[in-house]
Amino acid sequence: MKVCVTDESGLVKKAKYAVAIDGPSGAGKSTLAKALAAKLGISYVDTGAIYRTVGYAVRQHGISGDDKEGVVALLDKIKVDARFEDGKQYMYLDGECLGEKIRENEISAYASKVAAIPEVRTFLLEMQRKIARENSVIMDGRDIGTVILPDAEVKIFLSATAEKRAKRRYLELIERGENPDYDQILIEIKERDLRDSSRDVAPLRPADDAVLLDNSEISLEATVDAAEEIIRSKLPAVCTAR
Ligand code: DC
Repeated sequence: MKVCVTDESGLVKKAKYAVAIDGPSGAGKSTLAKALAAKLGISYVDTGAIYRTVGYAVRQHGISGDDKEGVVALLDKIKVDARFEDGKQYMYLDGECLGEKIRENEISAYASKVAAIPEVRTFLLEMQRKIARENSVIMDGRDIGTVILPDAEVKIFLSATAEKRAKRRYLELIERGENPDYDQILIEIKERDLRDSSRDVAPLRPADDAVLLDNSEISLEATVDAAEEIIRSKLPAVCTAR
């Protein structure tokens, strides 16, 4: 399936387009973006994974996430790459594929801390824009609609209450056979929300032209339907060619 944007006459007007999905941790951005990418036949780009890779590098080098100078000095010494194979994104650090290593809970805190450092954001900015220049993308993160792709054709700000997000994370961990503590998860989610939205550079906030979608009370299927509706209403005409 291939999706193209057409004008009223049915001619292809623009082969590439971008959908930005921003929102707080645990709102379900990546699940939503993956489902939409599959439906629309475009690439899903997980920008959180890119910050997680820097967070991972910082931990590997024994640097504290709070040591701004140490983190900035490290940027000159590391190579961060996102590669796409069969529609899946793989993060590489100095040529090594990190796989699931960036998903550890400890890495979430490192990622959130390094993401508040302006030099880190500058270091990763061009890489994210380049991916969007070369592909039609659905990109999720915190500042995609505001900073990375301010001209994205569609911007969605996905949110849910902290309690709902903590509950989902809790159930996810139970399913993985872990023994999570709901109260602790809620505290961590609130800490990350505060850090991500109160930092000086590229704080988490909806772009002025973003459509707000709160999925606290709706299912994943309903969220995908609502987001697809938003995308189709924002793009002049989306045809599904086979
Ligand atoms: O979405 P995530 O949990 O994988 O993101 C990890 C951290 O990276 C999160 O604390 C916020 C930060 N981040 C960011 O500041 N900007 C982005 N575009 C994506 C993630």
